[in-house]
Amino acid sequence: QTEDLTVHQLGGRIGARIDGVTLGADLPAEAVEQIRAALLKHKVVFFRGQQHLDDDAHIAFAEKLGPLTTAHPTVNTGSARILSLAANKGMAANSWHTDVTFVDRIPAFSVLRGVTIPAYGGNTVWANTVAAYDALPDPLKALVENLWAVHTNDYDYAATQENTEEHDKTQVFKREEFRRVKYETAHPVVRVHPETGERSLVLGHFVKHFVGFNAVESATLFNLLQTRVTRLENTIRWTWQQGDVAIWDNRATQHYAVADFDEQRREVRRITVAGDIPVSIDG
Ligand code: SIN
Repeated sequence: QTEDLTVHQLGGRIGARIDGVTLGADLPAEAVEQIRAALLKHKVVFFRGQQHLDDDAHIAFAEKLGPLTTAHPTVNTGSARILSLAANKGMAANSWHTDVTFVDRIPAFSVLRGVTIPAYGGNTVWANTVAAYDALPDPLKALVENLWAVHTNDYDYAATQENTEEHDKTQVFKREEFRRVKYETAHPVVRVHPETGERSLVLGHFVKHFVGFNAVESATLFNLLQTRVTRLENTIRWTWQQGDVAIWDNRATQHYAVADFDEQRREVRRITVAGDIPVSIDG
């Protein structure tokens, strides 16, 4: 049934909730097209009440958006397709990033399902990297349009944590496993979206340095640009309920999972849809 599908815009620059659909293997092509169109427009879309989804139905639905990638390039997930992000306290995802930018083909979409949701806290925030590019002053646009960044999974995970000792003890993805195979990949800082033609900023916590800039210069430039990406006007914050699904366009967003749920358990499961090698404005 697609006639009930409605899209409610949630933020001025990013985010919409889609009502009136039951996600899964039986979702008609017309509904998938409507979801895809809303996703490309709003960058992240949310669905309530999808408790019926198990891992298989989650996979079957995600495949409708395109071929899937491996669950994670380095983490031993126990499943070829699903990455379980579970934590009782603290987690690696509480800093701004785009998923898996350290590989050459950055995933196109992530489909995240809320499995165990704490009574409070544990929201996720997304930022629109197209709007961030659009709002840059012209001289800064000229700089970033010719800039390349090296992304790696071999970065300092504790660098942005409140309490590094606590983070070390509790993070679910052990650093060594995450960095088991080291990736370093250069991407243009401004990419042209293969479906919308929009320009977006490719940044986030996997950036190691900018090509031609030393570590100090890179950090200064990175902070300037990241501050632009994460301006509150560019963001939408979602308060999870069990059975929610969020899908984001990984080519046009960054996100941050807020680690404020104390000792409660939180588990979300993620499937990623394959993407392309980012193309710069020069092609
Ligand atoms: C992620 O970074 O993909 C996970 C986001 C979340 O845990 O909310």
